[in-house]
Amino acid sequence: MRKLIVGLFMLCLPALGLAAGGAGVPLDHMEPDHSNEASLQRGAAMFTNYCMGCHSMEYARYKRVAEDLDIPEELYEENLIFTGAKIGELMKIGMNKEEAQAWFGNPPPDLTLEARLRGESWIYSYLRGFYKDESRPLGVNNVVFSNVGMPHVLVGMQGLCAVEPHIGHGASVDPLSGNVVNGSVCPEWASEGSMTPAEFDTAMYDLTNFLSYMGDPVKLERERLGIFVLIFIAIFFVFAYLLNREYWKDVH
Ligand code: HEC
Repeated sequence: MRKLIVGLFMLCLPALGLAAGGAGVPLDHMEPDHSNEASLQRGAAMFTNYCMGCHSMEYARYKRVAEDLDIPEELYEENLIFTGAKIGELMKIGMNKEEAQAWFGNPPPDLTLEARLRGESWIYSYLRGFYKDESRPLGVNNVVFSNVGMPHVLVGMQGLCAVEPHIGHGASVDPLSGNVVNGSVCPEWASEGSMTPAEFDTAMYDLTNFLSYMGDPVKLERERLGIFVLIFIAIFFVFAYLLNREYWKDVH
Protein backbone atom coordinates (compact mmCIF):
# COMPACT_ATOMS: atom_id res chain seq x y z
CA MET A 1 0.00 0.00 0.00
CA ARG A 2 2.79 2.39 0.91
CA LYS A 3 4.50 1.66 -2.42
CA LEU A 4 1.25 2.51 -4.19
CA ILE A 5 0.98 5.86 -2.41
CA VAL A 6 4.63 6.72 -3.17
CA GLY A 7 4.06 5.68 -6.79
CA LEU A 8 0.98 7.88 -7.09
CA PHE A 9 2.86 10.79 -5.58
CA MET A 10 5.70 10.37 -8.06
CA LEU A 11 3.19 10.35 -10.90
CA CYS A 12 2.17 13.86 -9.83
CA LEU A 13 5.73 15.21 -9.81
CA PRO A 14 5.95 16.18 -13.51
CA ALA A 15 2.73 18.20 -13.13
CA LEU A 16 4.23 20.07 -10.17
CA GLY A 17 7.32 20.81 -12.27
CA LEU A 18 5.13 22.20 -15.06
CA ALA A 19 3.22 24.41 -12.66
CA ALA A 20 6.46 25.76 -11.25
CA GLY A 21 7.84 26.40 -14.75
CA GLY A 22 5.09 28.91 -15.49
CA ALA A 23 5.99 31.08 -12.51
CA GLY A 24 8.01 34.23 -12.85
CA VAL A 25 6.18 37.21 -14.25
CA PRO A 26 2.75 37.83 -12.74
CA LEU A 27 -0.04 37.24 -15.27
CA ASP A 28 -3.70 38.13 -15.67
CA HIS A 29 -5.77 34.97 -15.67
CA MET A 30 -7.60 34.01 -18.87
CA GLU A 31 -10.06 31.12 -19.09
CA PRO A 32 -10.59 30.04 -22.72
CA ASP A 33 -14.07 29.06 -23.91
CA HIS A 34 -14.01 27.07 -27.15
CA SER A 35 -17.80 26.83 -27.21
CA ASN A 36 -18.10 30.61 -27.64
CA GLU A 37 -18.21 30.62 -31.43
CA ALA A 38 -18.73 34.38 -31.81
CA SER A 39 -15.62 35.06 -29.74
CA LEU A 40 -13.58 32.59 -31.82
CA GLN A 41 -14.83 34.14 -35.07
CA ARG A 42 -13.86 37.62 -33.92
CA GLY A 43 -10.47 36.25 -32.82
CA ALA A 44 -9.93 34.58 -36.22
CA ALA A 45 -10.75 37.83 -38.04
CA MET A 46 -8.40 39.78 -35.83
CA PHE A 47 -5.60 37.26 -36.17
CA THR A 48 -5.88 37.29 -39.97
CA ASN A 49 -5.94 41.07 -40.16
CA TYR A 50 -3.31 42.01 -37.60
CA CYS A 51 -1.03 39.02 -37.04
CA MET A 52 -0.82 36.86 -40.15
CA GLY A 53 1.39 39.38 -41.92
CA CYS A 54 4.17 38.07 -39.69
CA HIS A 55 2.95 34.89 -37.95
CA SER A 56 1.93 31.69 -39.73
CA MET A 57 -0.32 28.90 -38.39
CA GLU A 58 1.25 26.32 -40.63
CA TYR A 59 0.08 23.21 -38.77
CA ALA A 60 -3.56 24.05 -39.47
CA ARG A 61 -5.70 24.34 -42.58
CA TYR A 62 -8.07 27.18 -43.40
CA LYS A 63 -10.82 24.69 -44.19
CA ARG A 64 -10.74 23.11 -40.75
CA VAL A 65 -10.97 26.52 -39.08
CA ALA A 66 -13.86 27.53 -41.35
CA GLU A 67 -15.71 24.29 -40.49
CA ASP A 68 -15.07 24.41 -36.76
CA LEU A 69 -16.07 28.07 -36.45
CA ASP A 70 -19.10 27.70 -38.74
CA ILE A 71 -17.82 30.25 -41.26
CA PRO A 72 -19.07 29.47 -44.81
CA GLU A 73 -16.12 28.52 -47.02
CA GLU A 74 -16.77 31.20 -49.68
CA LEU A 75 -16.99 33.88 -47.02
CA TYR A 76 -13.80 32.66 -45.42
CA GLU A 77 -11.94 32.56 -48.74
CA GLU A 78 -13.12 36.05 -49.70
CA ASN A 79 -12.45 37.80 -46.40
CA LEU A 80 -9.92 35.85 -44.39
CA ILE A 81 -7.35 34.58 -46.92
CA PHE A 82 -5.04 37.27 -48.23
CA THR A 83 -2.27 35.12 -49.69
CA GLY A 84 -4.23 33.71 -52.63
CA ALA A 85 -4.07 30.27 -51.00
CA LYS A 86 -6.90 27.76 -51.51
CA ILE A 87 -9.23 26.95 -48.61
CA GLY A 88 -7.74 23.45 -48.28
CA GLU A 89 -4.18 24.66 -47.84
CA LEU A 90 -2.06 25.07 -44.71
CA MET A 91 -2.06 28.51 -43.13
CA LYS A 92 1.41 29.55 -44.27
CA ILE A 93 2.69 33.05 -44.95
CA GLY A 94 5.19 34.51 -47.38
CA MET A 95 7.56 36.18 -44.94
CA ASN A 96 11.19 35.19 -45.35
CA LYS A 97 12.64 33.96 -42.01
CA GLU A 98 16.17 35.32 -42.60
CA GLU A 99 14.92 38.77 -43.55
CA ALA A 100 12.56 38.82 -40.58
CA GLN A 101 15.47 37.94 -38.30
CA ALA A 102 17.34 41.01 -39.60
CA TRP A 103 14.29 43.28 -39.15
CA PHE A 104 13.14 42.27 -35.69
CA GLY A 105 16.16 40.54 -34.14
CA ASN A 106 14.13 37.32 -33.98
CA PRO A 107 11.86 35.86 -36.66
CA PRO A 108 8.14 35.86 -35.71
CA PRO A 109 7.46 32.25 -34.63
CA ASP A 110 4.62 30.09 -35.94
CA LEU A 111 1.71 30.43 -33.51
CA THR A 112 -0.32 27.24 -34.10
CA LEU A 113 0.84 25.73 -30.82
CA GLU A 114 1.65 28.96 -28.98
CA ALA A 115 -1.17 28.49 -26.44
CA ARG A 116 0.18 25.00 -25.62
CA LEU A 117 3.69 26.40 -25.22
CA ARG A 118 3.01 29.52 -23.14
CA GLY A 119 -0.54 29.09 -21.85
CA GLU A 120 -3.56 31.32 -22.44
CA SER A 121 -2.93 33.61 -19.47
CA TRP A 122 0.57 34.34 -20.74
CA ILE A 123 -0.67 35.28 -24.24
CA TYR A 124 -3.54 37.38 -22.84
CA SER A 125 -1.13 39.26 -20.58
CA TYR A 126 1.54 39.61 -23.27
CA LEU A 127 -0.88 41.15 -25.79
CA ARG A 128 -1.91 43.75 -23.18
CA GLY A 129 1.61 44.23 -21.80
CA PHE A 130 3.25 46.63 -24.27
CA TYR A 131 4.50 50.01 -23.05
CA LYS A 132 6.61 52.93 -24.24
CA ASP A 133 10.37 52.46 -23.87
CA GLU A 134 12.58 54.77 -25.92
CA SER A 135 15.68 52.68 -25.21
CA ARG A 136 14.34 49.88 -27.43
CA PRO A 137 14.83 49.91 -31.24
CA LEU A 138 11.06 50.02 -31.89
CA GLY A 139 10.29 52.36 -28.97
CA VAL A 140 8.26 49.72 -27.08
CA ASN A 141 8.86 47.02 -24.53
CA ASN A 142 6.67 44.40 -22.87
CA VAL A 143 6.22 43.57 -19.18
CA VAL A 144 5.65 39.88 -19.87
CA PHE A 145 8.36 39.42 -22.54
CA SER A 146 11.13 41.89 -21.77
CA ASN A 147 13.07 43.32 -24.72
CA VAL A 148 10.66 41.71 -27.17
CA GLY A 149 11.39 42.08 -30.90
CA MET A 150 7.73 42.38 -31.89
CA PRO A 151 6.37 45.86 -32.64
CA HIS A 152 3.22 46.97 -30.78
CA VAL A 153 1.01 46.22 -33.77
CA LEU A 154 -2.25 47.01 -31.94
CA VAL A 155 -1.14 50.46 -30.79
CA GLY A 156 -3.93 52.06 -32.84
CA MET A 157 -6.54 50.10 -30.86
CA GLN A 158 -5.02 50.02 -27.40
CA GLY A 159 -3.00 53.22 -27.39
CA LEU A 160 0.47 53.29 -25.87
CA CYS A 161 0.96 53.03 -22.14
CA ALA A 162 3.58 55.51 -20.89
CA VAL A 163 4.65 53.32 -17.95
CA GLU A 164 4.79 49.59 -17.28
CA PRO A 165 1.17 48.34 -17.24
CA HIS A 166 -0.02 46.58 -14.05
CA ILE A 167 -0.39 43.09 -15.45
CA GLY A 168 -1.06 40.36 -12.91
CA HIS A 169 -1.78 42.74 -10.01
CA GLY A 170 -5.54 42.95 -9.65
CA ALA A 171 -7.20 46.07 -8.26
CA SER A 172 -7.11 46.40 -4.47
CA VAL A 173 -7.90 49.02 -1.84
CA ASP A 174 -5.04 50.54 0.11
CA PRO A 175 -5.93 49.90 3.80
CA LEU A 176 -4.35 53.17 5.01
CA SER A 177 -5.64 55.72 2.53
CA GLY A 178 -8.69 53.86 1.25
CA ASN A 179 -7.60 54.62 -2.33
CA VAL A 180 -8.00 52.04 -5.08
CA VAL A 181 -4.60 50.72 -6.17
CA ASN A 182 -4.10 49.33 -9.71
CA GLY A 183 -7.65 50.30 -10.63
CA SER A 184 -6.68 50.39 -14.29
CA VAL A 185 -4.07 48.35 -16.09
CA CYS A 186 -2.38 51.49 -17.41
CA PRO A 187 -2.31 54.53 -15.11
CA GLU A 188 -0.88 56.91 -17.73
CA TRP A 189 -1.19 56.89 -21.52
CA ALA A 190 1.43 58.25 -23.94
CA SER A 191 -1.17 58.04 -26.72
CA GLU A 192 -4.84 57.05 -26.74
CA GLY A 193 -6.21 54.18 -28.80
CA SER A 194 -9.50 53.79 -30.65
CA MET A 195 -10.82 51.35 -27.98
CA THR A 196 -11.47 51.80 -24.28
CA PRO A 197 -9.31 49.56 -22.03
CA ALA A 198 -12.34 47.32 -21.40
CA GLU A 199 -13.06 46.96 -25.12
CA PHE A 200 -9.41 46.18 -25.78
CA ASP A 201 -9.41 43.52 -23.04
CA THR A 202 -12.44 41.87 -24.67
CA ALA A 203 -10.75 41.98 -28.08
CA MET A 204 -7.61 40.39 -26.61
CA TYR A 205 -9.76 37.77 -24.87
CA ASP A 206 -11.21 36.82 -28.28
CA LEU A 207 -7.78 36.75 -29.91
CA THR A 208 -6.33 34.59 -27.12
CA ASN A 209 -9.39 32.35 -27.24
CA PHE A 210 -8.75 31.80 -30.95
CA LEU A 211 -5.06 30.98 -30.33
CA SER A 212 -6.18 28.58 -27.62
CA TYR A 213 -8.60 26.85 -30.01
CA MET A 214 -5.84 26.58 -32.66
CA GLY A 215 -3.57 24.81 -30.18
CA ASP A 216 -6.28 22.27 -29.30
CA PRO A 217 -9.00 22.20 -31.97
CA VAL A 218 -10.55 18.93 -30.77
CA LYS A 219 -11.01 20.01 -27.14
CA LEU A 220 -14.80 20.33 -27.31
CA GLU A 221 -15.19 17.04 -29.19
CA ARG A 222 -12.88 15.30 -26.72
CA GLU A 223 -14.82 16.54 -23.72
CA ARG A 224 -18.13 15.55 -25.33
CA LEU A 225 -16.81 12.05 -26.05
CA GLY A 226 -15.34 11.84 -22.56
CA ILE A 227 -18.82 12.08 -21.04
CA PHE A 228 -20.05 9.16 -23.17
CA VAL A 229 -17.02 7.12 -22.19
CA LEU A 230 -17.69 7.76 -18.50
CA ILE A 231 -21.37 6.81 -18.91
CA PHE A 232 -20.29 3.63 -20.68
CA ILE A 233 -17.86 2.76 -17.90
CA ALA A 234 -20.55 3.39 -15.27
CA ILE A 235 -23.03 1.05 -17.03
CA PHE A 236 -20.32 -1.52 -17.70
CA PHE A 237 -19.38 -1.46 -14.02
CA VAL A 238 -22.89 -2.63 -13.04
CA PHE A 239 -22.65 -5.67 -15.34
CA ALA A 240 -19.07 -6.43 -14.30
CA TYR A 241 -20.15 -6.26 -10.66
CA LEU A 242 -23.15 -8.54 -11.19
CA LEU A 243 -21.05 -11.03 -13.14
CA ASN A 244 -18.41 -10.98 -10.45
CA ARG A 245 -21.05 -11.75 -7.81
CA GLU A 246 -22.43 -14.56 -9.96
CA TYR A 247 -18.97 -16.19 -10.32
CA TRP A 248 -18.14 -16.00 -6.64
CA LYS A 249 -21.49 -16.83 -5.13
CA ASP A 250 -20.73 -20.55 -4.68
CA VAL A 251 -17.20 -20.08 -3.34
CA HIS A 252 -17.19 -20.09 0.44
C1 HEC B 1 5.46 43.10 -37.80
C2 HEC B 1 5.48 41.70 -37.53
C3 HEC B 1 4.60 41.16 -36.43
C4 HEC B 1 3.24 41.25 -36.33
C5 HEC B 1 2.27 41.93 -37.28
C6 HEC B 1 2.86 40.49 -35.15
N1 HEC B 1 3.97 39.96 -34.56
FE1 HEC B 1 4.01 38.76 -32.95
N2 HEC B 1 6.02 38.65 -33.02
C7 HEC B 1 6.80 39.26 -33.98
C8 HEC B 1 8.20 38.97 -33.70
C9 HEC B 1 9.39 39.46 -34.51
C10 HEC B 1 8.23 38.15 -32.56
C11 HEC B 1 9.44 37.54 -31.88
C12 HEC B 1 9.87 38.45 -30.77
C13 HEC B 1 11.12 37.99 -30.07
O1 HEC B 1 11.39 36.78 -29.99
O2 HEC B 1 11.82 38.87 -29.55
C14 HEC B 1 6.82 37.98 -32.16
C15 HEC B 1 6.43 37.25 -31.05
C16 HEC B 1 5.12 36.98 -30.71
C17 HEC B 1 4.70 36.14 -29.61
C18 HEC B 1 5.61 35.45 -28.63
C19 HEC B 1 6.19 34.23 -29.24
C20 HEC B 1 7.04 33.45 -28.26
O3 HEC B 1 8.23 33.68 -28.22
O4 HEC B 1 6.46 32.62 -27.55
C21 HEC B 1 3.33 36.11 -29.64
C22 HEC B 1 2.40 35.35 -28.70
C23 HEC B 1 2.90 36.94 -30.73
N3 HEC B 1 4.01 37.46 -31.36
C24 HEC B 1 1.58 37.17 -31.04
C25 HEC B 1 1.18 38.06 -32.03
C26 HEC B 1 -0.20 38.37 -32.28
C27 HEC B 1 -1.40 37.76 -31.55
C28 HEC B 1 -0.21 39.28 -33.29
C29 HEC B 1 -1.41 39.97 -33.87
C30 HEC B 1 -2.10 40.89 -33.01
C31 HEC B 1 1.16 39.50 -33.70
N4 HEC B 1 1.99 38.75 -32.89
C32 HEC B 1 1.56 40.35 -34.72
C33 HEC B 1 6.37 40.03 -35.05
C34 HEC B 1 5.06 40.34 -35.31
